[in-house]
Amino acid sequence: MQKQVSFPREKFKILLLEGVHPACVEKLQQAGYQPELLKNALSEDELVKRIPGVHLLGIRSKTRVSKKVLEAADSLLAIGCFCIGTDQVDLSAAALHGVPVFNAPFSNTRSVAELTLAEMVMLARRAAHKSQLLHRGVWEKSADGCVEVRNKTVGLVGYGHIGPQVGLLAEAFGMKVYYYDILGKLPFGNATQVASLKELLALSDFVSLHVPETAETRNLIGAPEIAQMKQGAFLLNLSRGKVVDLPAVKSGVESGKLGGVAVDVFPEEPASNDEVFSCPLSGLDNVILTPHIGGSTLEAQRNIGLEVGTTLLKFTEVGSTTGAVNFPQVELPLVRESHRILNIHRNVPGVLSSINTIIAQMGGNIQAQYLNTLGDVGYLIIDVDQTISAAVKSKIDELPTSIRTRLLF
Ligand code: NAI
Repeated sequence: MQKQVSFPREKFKILLLEGVHPACVEKLQQAGYQPELLKNALSEDELVKRIPGVHLLGIRSKTRVSKKVLEAADSLLAIGCFCIGTDQVDLSAAALHGVPVFNAPFSNTRSVAELTLAEMVMLARRAAHKSQLLHRGVWEKSADGCVEVRNKTVGLVGYGHIGPQVGLLAEAFGMKVYYYDILGKLPFGNATQVASLKELLALSDFVSLHVPETAETRNLIGAPEIAQMKQGAFLLNLSRGKVVDLPAVKSGVESGKLGGVAVDVFPEEPASNDEVFSCPLSGLDNVILTPHIGGSTLEAQRNIGLEVGTTLLKFTEVGSTTGAVNFPQVELPLVRESHRILNIHRNVPGVLSSINTIIAQMGGNIQAQYLNTLGDVGYLIIDVDQTISAAVKSKIDELPTSIRTRLLF
């Protein structure tokens, strides 16, 4: 059900920077919007000049949205980051300005899973190592230490979005899949959850890490954990650099305890392609190093365009903030024959009661309502009778706690 929103879509100003994927532009155009697309990032000063009047801003990782930019943004309703990271945006300042920030954390899940599987095969066959030798003119045709992945066990640490995809692809190769997660997770395919990391490490020919970086996952795999792994087991980290203690992994490779390692993410990563890179594993045999490209595919870029485009549209058309990284998450199904008011407010006691008093005093009926808070900000969606919606909106707007109030439809 598409409601007739209270603003003309063609006059709604959407500014997309850094060559956001055409799939997103197409999606917005199909919904009746006319986004403006710039190929490059803008500097802070350029953005301060461009941002007044803009309702939606789309960026990738190079555009910084600072407090100064947000202060100049007189009409901004939401920011879409067409990438995974959101540290280029001052998230708390955005929340205090009533601006939710969206990103696309799961658009590259499959890309990571495919690279993980490919690297398992490369490690098992010592193929990356042999390729490096051959580039240097060394012909090392030998089956020594080379195995199939079929009938081997893979232990997945972290079974969120990526873990299960790796598991399903591994099963297609004939591998037996175990996983360990701090949460109870339903298995996909024939995978089996185990109760502890220790148990998983002891079972696995391949250990593949798919956890976020948290205080608990820092150095999750160090010398004691490597000691618990099978002799000659393989370790893959395509999650976050600080999850693994690289000097301990180096010792594991040098002693032969680890048969091979693949690492895509590092505790310290170069800020640009111009910097020279080295790490404790550089130059070791049967170690595959890749420059954080697990999720970098054309398909993932397109998925990111569509995912962020969809969340921005859902926010603009129905007020949903599901997936926002800095904002209370609120989603309310559409009710026919009602008007929808969105209120962003300072999170202090009594706001809901003041708003409901306003509606009651006008003799209005609340058809649906959903409030959620996060930190200093509260977000409320209310569906009310059409006859009183405009008056209710004005009164709510006047409350000293209100940051922004909109009558959506
Ligand atoms: P997710 O958030 O969907 O899943 C993570 C899982 O790890 C959750 O099920 C969680 O319960 C579990 N977990 C958290 N702490 C744990 C612990 N101490 N022990 C065991 N399990 C624990 O994340 P998703 O999307 O599957 O991504 C996994 C990792 O991959 C993340 O670190 C993400 O940043 C990284 N990533 C890397 C990319 C690359 O280019 N190499 C691209 C995309 C994601």
